[in-house]
Amino acid sequence: MNIVVIGTGYVGLVTGVALSEIGHDVCCIDIDADKVAKLKKAISPIYEPGIEALIEKNIEAGRLSFSTDLKAAVADSSVVYLAVGTPQKQDGSANLDYIEAAAANIAQSIVQDTIVVVKSTVPVGTNRYLKEFIQNQTPYRISIVSNPEFLREGVAVHDVFHGDRIVLGADDTAALEKLEMINQGFQIPIFKTALESAEMIKYASNAFLATKISFINEIANICEKAGGDIREVSAGMGMDSRIGSAFLQAGIGYGGSCFPKDTLALNHIAKNVGYDFGLIQSVIDANKVQQLKLVKVLKTHYSNLVGKQIALLGVAFKPETDDIREAASEVIIEELLRCGAKVSIFDPVASANMKAVFGNAIHVADTISEVLYQADAALVVTEWNEIKNIQLAEFTSQMSHPVVLDGRLVFDKSEMKQAGISYYSVGTGELEINEPVYI
Ligand code: UGA
Repeated sequence: MNIVVIGTGYVGLVTGVALSEIGHDVCCIDIDADKVAKLKKAISPIYEPGIEALIEKNIEAGRLSFSTDLKAAVADSSVVYLAVGTPQKQDGSANLDYIEAAAANIAQSIVQDTIVVVKSTVPVGTNRYLKEFIQNQTPYRISIVSNPEFLREGVAVHDVFHGDRIVLGADDTAALEKLEMINQGFQIPIFKTALESAEMIKYASNAFLATKISFINEIANICEKAGGDIREVSAGMGMDSRIGSAFLQAGIGYGGSCFPKDTLALNHIAKNVGYDFGLIQSVIDANKVQQLKLVKVLKTHYSNLVGKQIALLGVAFKPETDDIREAASEVIIEELLRCGAKVSIFDPVASANMKAVFGNAIHVADTISEVLYQADAALVVTEWNEIKNIQLAEFTSQMSHPVVLDGRLVFDKSEMKQAGISYYSVGTGELEINEPVYI
């Protein structure tokens, strides 16, 4: 099957590569010529473990190509995937400018009846609108299928072949059957729905996962005062199959390009239909507070942060990605700098992205020893393996004051105590001073 994928961002690229891997002939289109030139050489514009090997393999097999020529590619195929970004507007709603521009290009390029498959996360009702928008500009018959994406960054190559379901939403039976056939090679259960249901499944799924995270973080905050260890609480709750153990890891909140954007967008969708979605607003508010939790605790230790050297262990919004969008690290750094602290960061792959935001206001360390050197406190922001595996002696030998605030629950409290490290981790009690206090 000849398939065109428009947009080689995170979703488009993984989709295109995966469709070629299961045997389809796929042409991925992007307007960015540099990106396309790199992709032709199997250089991925995103950091995603395993993706480059798959790109190379499928280019060599002759099933995968990259181009800037949308018109030629679309003219050659009756199935066009749309995977362009829907960034957030100032008011929290989704910006549909890119998707409309791509839809207009499709309308002007098709030369046969065409199925447009929308991968982008779009507000309920958008697919129906897009269908009319394209149909009004072409004599050929347009079918539209909503096929929301559930991949996680960093493990996308795994997720794309092991998803729990593939959701296909459409009002057009023939189009649904064709998409079902295209997706058969994934051997993942296919769930067919109405167009609007598919759109809502995407927002509701992300919002529900965000709710789980904010919920467990609130419980963690209560544990700190009331007693109880959040790790045990999460584990015990997760054993109930009705609850499930996934997304119950307490910490410093969710970040990334999806949960923050999609919770706001869903709130906006609700407002637009006159519904007050107070629950999701609380989830969003709790997350904002949680992202600054470590700084709050730090301030209970050092009443004045002016001139204090603070090390950030990790800045990516989660491990295995260089993505820092909506990461807790960014608001933490902003607040530390506002308080007059000196900030040094270490991240295996995301440091350059953070440097681009803060420039010379922060120091980028190349190693863990360097970031810890002479630090007055270290904040664990991202649970990279390199960070989880830090030898505790590194903290005591490198830091001016071995104060470790763990936002991702990666260290063991009693081991930290034994090593003479003042330690706090979210949801396991207050900061325990195991060294003299320096104010
Ligand atoms: C999320 C969803 O998990 C995907 O299913 C979805 O396809 C994707 O958004 C999207 O809409 O494109 P992603 O943003 O890549 O995926 O990252 P997650 O692994 O879900 O993590 C999101 C954030 O939640 C991270 O900051 C992570 O640290 C945090 N998190 C996650 C927790 O704080 N606790 C948890 O238990 C799990």
